Amino acid sequence: MEKELIQKLIKTATDQLAYSYVPYSHFHVGAALLAEDGSIYKGCNIENAAYTPSNCAERTAFFKAVSEGVRKFSAICVVGGMDGRLTEYAPPCGVCRQVMMEFCDPKTFEIILATDTEHYQVLRLEELLPMGFGPGNLAE
Ligand code: THU
Repeated sequence: MEKELIQKLIKTATDQLAYSYVPYSHFHVGAALLAEDGSIYKGCNIENAAYTPSNCAERTAFFKAVSEGVRKFSAICVVGGMDGRLTEYAPPCGVCRQVMMEFCDPKTFEIILATDTEHYQVLRLEELLPMGFGPGNLAE
């Protein structure tokens, strides 16, 4: 992917940090999900007083897209940190990796982790979720 597009995704994900609803952890996460058609779906994490209903930024972005009929994706950028400070990469949790596995080709889907537009790492889903279980495992 071209650096210009990577930087656009990093900026978009970073803008989402302002919308994170995180009264319990104070850990803000923003995501920018690039669909194959070029559209970008944004997400933030949304916590809950009962804790388990909380939703990660990545899943917010995926569910927004899928709920609008979009199911093909090329990449996602994820940024996050305590009080919104981006000091380290914020890698996706296991549940979010599994949701990626449902809709993305693990060999090609790219996950961009960043602290700013000059400091980032691009990984494939198969690196973050080796031997993942996906729709193909249930195919007859
Ligand atoms: N979080 C995400 O939004 N994405 C991840 O992949 C890891 C964790 C959120 C959930 C919770 O609101 C906060 O970060 C601390 O776990």
